[in-house]
Amino acid sequence: MKLRVEGPLIGQSRACEPILRALPNWFGLEASAQAYITQTDLLPTFIAITDGSTVGFLTLKQHSGTAAEIVVMGVLPHYHRRGVGRALVERAEDYLRRTGTSFLQVKTLSERHPDPNYARTRAFYKAVGFVELEEFTEIWDTDSPCLQMIKYLL
Ligand SMILES: CC(C)(COP(=O)(O)OP(=O)(O)OC[C@H]1O[C@@H](n2cnc3c(N)ncnc32)[C@H](O)[C@@H]1OP(=O)(O)O)[C@@H](O)C(=O)NCCC(=O)NCCS
Repeated sequence: MKLRVEGPLIGQSRACEPILRALPNWFGLEASAQAYITQTDLLPTFIAITDGSTVGFLTLKQHSGTAAEIVVMGVLPHYHRRGVGRALVERAEDYLRRTGTSFLQVKTLSERHPDPNYARTRAFYKAVGFVELEEFTEIWDTDSPCLQMIKYLL
């Protein structure tokens, strides 16, 4: 598969919304899907393109000069486990290193929640080098415990 990653770009909701809509097991809550769609317009976003269409994206938020966060990312189901997610993370990390960012975090559902889909998400983040930092019940709600993961960008 010939894959190209572009970014960082803003104004990417048109490319990213179909991907979010194709992942209802992760982004099925309309309010949060809408919030993510807005973020892909406002925040720096990387898009993965193959066969002339966008098959994955990753959106970053810069928290400080040295710290950033993956606020959302997704890959069309048909393209899972084909290296698209890893390519997006690697490209975002290259960009962050060049701009002096050393710490990259991501928040996801903790393993205290039984959702098997998010177990796969955590496996992905671990595979690309994130480690578990802290769990929070105050950030989302007590039924959705939040796991903060972090990676030091060497
Ligand atoms: C998480 C996600 C972005 C990963 O993208 P992807 O393109 O499928 O991931 P990659 O193919 O680059 O996988 C890289 C490595 O992560 C690990 N990994 C990925 N998916 C996995 C899964 N379902 N189970 C276990 N490990 C997994 C593997 O080690 C994999 O390497 P390998 O295939 O050589 O074994 C994608 O599955 C997705 O869109 N999930 C739904 C939305 C989501 O979870 N978004 C993140 C929360 S905002």
